[in-house]
Amino acid sequence: MRHSSPRTSPTSSPRRSDTERSTDLVITVTDLPHHEVVRLAMAATGRSRTEVLVGFEVTPDQVARFETYVERRRVNEPLQYIEGSVPFGPVELLVDDRVLVPRPETEYLFELAISRVDSPAVIVDLCTGSGNLALGLASTFPDATVYAVDLSADAAAVARHNARSNGLDIVVLTGDLYEPLPPGLLGSVDLLVANPPYLAAREVASLPPDVLAEPMLALVAGERGDEVLERIALDVDRWLRPGGVVMCEISEYAVAVSLGHFAHLDAVVEKDLTGTERFVVGHRRTE
Ligand SMILES: C[S@@+](CC[C@H](N)C(=O)[O-])C[C@H]1O[C@@H](n2cnc3c(N)ncnc32)[C@H](O)[C@@H]1O
Repeated sequence: MRHSSPRTSPTSSPRRSDTERSTDLVITVTDLPHHEVVRLAMAATGRSRTEVLVGFEVTPDQVARFETYVERRRVNEPLQYIEGSVPFGPVELLVDDRVLVPRPETEYLFELAISRVDSPAVIVDLCTGSGNLALGLASTFPDATVYAVDLSADAAAVARHNARSNGLDIVVLTGDLYEPLPPGLLGSVDLLVANPPYLAAREVASLPPDVLAEPMLALVAGERGDEVLERIALDVDRWLRPGGVVMCEISEYAVAVSLGHFAHLDAVVEKDLTGTERFVVGHRRTE
């Protein structure tokens, strides 16, 4: 919700006194939601929420950074891109306009995976983006070999950066779904996770502006929306070991069709924390 008369604007950058406090910064911005302004002040100053709200003396550099962040948010840059990083389970991830911002429902997919799988030796994350699922799993299962694949070389670079910054050793590959995986993995994957793009092209028109700032390749799968998921399902039992598990995030508006793609496995739909049907979980049959 936007309010009127912002005190700071792209054309005017009022010079404040050197003794300005963080609380003054926050109250000057009335056209962005208060909780966002507080987060922008935290990012600009490197201080905690409590410190920002109680008030401390800000430096001219911090003021300038805060004003830049406010302007970026005003033109609908996602808050997390401005902050530069997001927590995801046990890891902290750089996010920018090369990758999707990991969503809470995907963090729930991670929780679901670690609660259902016991000591996996080989894990594959197709459509890895920032590497969130792959790195969360690598941190939880340090003995596993984790492969992370993305079609976007830019996204793969972010995943590699995040692996390094979290001190985790995973194999990041660029390519189309299974194509870059070593053939030696066929029939040996214990856990395959994916949060593929699952919007239909026609849905783009109704996306909020900050979602439109995220990569289209991360959002849109094709004319129908289930094209990438369908291709994941088609080949998954060649890569899973017998009894191996696949877990994919799906569109809440395409539950039946998504489940149908996994009919050759023992597959069910699972709900997220809001009760929305959001994941397909399947096991390769053991014969
Ligand atoms: C919905 S985003 C998910 C990113 C991340 N795993 C997450 O949960 O936030 C989908 C990702 O799949 C990648 N992608 C799209 N088509 C692909 C394909 N055919 N093969 C591999 N990756 C693909 C996109 O570049 C994007 O990074």
